[in-house]
Amino acid sequence: MKYISYLLFFLFISALLYFLKNALEPHKEAIVITGSDKCGECHNLKNIGDQFTIWKNSEHSGAYTVLFSNKARDFASKNGLQAPDKEEKCLKCHSTAYSLKGMEKGESFNISEGVGCEACHGAGSGYSPAEIMRDEGLFIRNGGIKGDASTCSPCHNTKGSKEQVLKDDLCPFQEEDFDYKQEYEKIKHPLNKDLK
Ligand code: HEC
Ligand code: HEC
Ligand code: HEC
Ligand code: HEC
Repeated sequence: MKYISYLLFFLFISALLYFLKNALEPHKEAIVITGSDKCGECHNLKNIGDQFTIWKNSEHSGAYTVLFSNKARDFASKNGLQAPDKEEKCLKCHSTAYSLKGMEKGESFNISEGVGCEACHGAGSGYSPAEIMRDEGLFIRNGGIKGDASTCSPCHNTKGSKEQVLKDDLCPFQEEDFDYKQEYEKIKHPLNKDLK
């Protein structure tokens, strides 16, 4: 009998600890892709450098729509692929959604944004509050990526032959090998340090 009451007591304590642990642990919400429009709510401000407009005017924001061009469609139909806007082989470099495959998308996300902020900086719901973003360490701990040459290489690499394009999923339309320094100059969107 005595052992049974010990056992019951032990089970009771374990259950209590289990519930306490769950109640006390901060709820870790899954990080989701918010979409570039959400980033734009703050990053369209002139005093921090209006990164949003620079991105909007870059080819990255049109990377999804370009999949509806005749060029893209002809290539797909001639090579037995699905329509490019449905074809993962194309979407993985032409959209944020597929480049961050496996991550959840928030309600504000729309695939038509093409290659958005989060394709390079990481899914944003965790680091988006401004207090976190002002602190580089916190930004990185909450899933933020600063961005460098290795950010570009999954999508921009060497120009491939047609066989390589189909086998290794390269872009059929990439015309030159990628040069980070040169290409970064075309998309750079620095913070405005003076007005801080
Ligand atoms: C490995 C990443 C990657 C894949 C896979 C990819 N693309 Fe691209 N695509 C790019 C990049 C990078 C560019 C810009 C290249 C440049 O301008 O040098 C581009 C440019 C394009 C353009 C614009 C070309 C122009 O001259 O205006 C079209 C159209 C296009 N891709 C269609 C496709 C289609 C269709 C597929 C699927 C069969 C595909 N891409 C797969 C990365 C990719
Ligand atoms: C194609 C990739 C790419 C996209 C898309 C992109 N960025 Fe960046 N971003 C970078 C890189 C690379 C850097 C430079 C990081 C460095 O050198 O410190 C950077 C830097 C920044 C910086 C910091 C600049 C500084 O001076 O410290 C901010 C803020 C920023 N990006 C915001 C955005 C926002 C907001 C969007 C969308 C509207 C966006 N980025 C889209 C790649 C990208
Ligand atoms: C609530 C406003 C707000 C939103 C939303 C927001 N940002 Fe920021 N972001 C800021 C502020 C403020 C800074 C810091 C500016 C400074 O240091 O002067 C910043 C800094 C950054 C930096 C530089 C980080 C560092 O520490 O070097 C990047 C990159 C960045 N934001 C990208 C994004 C992306 C991508 C999104 C969308 C997923 C986004 N931001 C959404 C306000 C915001
Ligand atoms: C998720 C895939 C992806 C990533 C990551 C990415 N790009 Fe792109 N980039 C593209 C696609 C796709 C296009 C072509 C879009 C179009 O033609 O509409 C493109 C186009 C460009 C262009 C315009 C084409 C040209 O030659 O003038 C530049 C410049 C560029 N990217 C620079 C960069 C840099 C620098 C980085 C890294 C900091 C980067 N990209 C990261 C997919 C990507």
